[in-house]
Amino acid sequence: MSRVVVTGRVPDAAIEKLRAEHEVDAWTGSESIGREELLRRVAGADAVVSLLTERIDAELLDAAGPRLKVVANVAVGYDNIDVPACTERRIVATNTPGVLTEATADIAFGLILMATRRLGEGERLIRAGQPWKWGMFFLLGSSLQSKTLGVVGMGGIGQATARRAKAFGMEIVYQSRSEIDPAIAAELGARRVDLDELLAVSDVVSLHCPYGPATHHLIGAEQLAAMKSSAYLVNTARGPIIDEAALAAALSDGVIAGAGLDVFEREPQVHPALLDLENVVLVPHLGSATVETRTAMAMLAADNALAVLSGEQPPAPIN
Ligand code: GLV
Repeated sequence: MSRVVVTGRVPDAAIEKLRAEHEVDAWTGSESIGREELLRRVAGADAVVSLLTERIDAELLDAAGPRLKVVANVAVGYDNIDVPACTERRIVATNTPGVLTEATADIAFGLILMATRRLGEGERLIRAGQPWKWGMFFLLGSSLQSKTLGVVGMGGIGQATARRAKAFGMEIVYQSRSEIDPAIAAELGARRVDLDELLAVSDVVSLHCPYGPATHHLIGAEQLAAMKSSAYLVNTARGPIIDEAALAAALSDGVIAGAGLDVFEREPQVHPALLDLENVVLVPHLGSATVETRTAMAMLAADNALAVLSGEQPPAPIN
């Protein structure tokens, strides 16, 4: 029997699955586990099931010690894990791709609709008790039909967002490290372009690339200035892909029309300048936040950990 440390609350089904085979030490506090407590608990662990709020770095891997075989992240993004440090120690790192694709694309599209149709503004106005009535020019937004969506990072979530956009009558361009399956590109009518062209032609830009040194501040003042002044920017990937201060300035100066953000540069902090702006929709990292999706993510993370502990290939290895 191995010892599995779970760094935060996850659905019971995953804990039960792990507990059927191993001793499980799961943090159940309503607040995130503190760093000191985490370092103490991982000592001697064979597996760590981690949430994206926990930094899994060399210090933590060393605190865990030589028994540690697997770090199973309950997230598709793994910028919280120092993967080379895992690889050096022959520790398998895993993530949860696939199971959160549709839920995250739903939130991306929700943000696109909220930003372009000014739904947040309308809601705030009603809740503030302000007088209003239907008017020909009242809270006019921007239509999606025949507009262009630019998808930055055309993996599963980018493709799922593009499918939704196509159903809304949008044209699709994308920028991606690699060409996508030609059959999918044909079905979506999606054209691969470089980032400069994408920024210039898109009416909505949606970010779906992983975060790392190559994508830090991928969208800064220069890129925002290259977008149409009528365009919108949506981020459901990772906050630091956007220079948040530059975005706040661009939104306030009319460089772009609006934005929708599910992720932030210094989560859970939000740049204070964004809070005062009407033309940005702010939601608290809800991309995968459905009961079904979170359960599937936790079960996949458990399957990843269990596979490595029994000497098998996990379903979703990173390294
Ligand atoms: C959520 O942000 C994830 O990466 O799964």
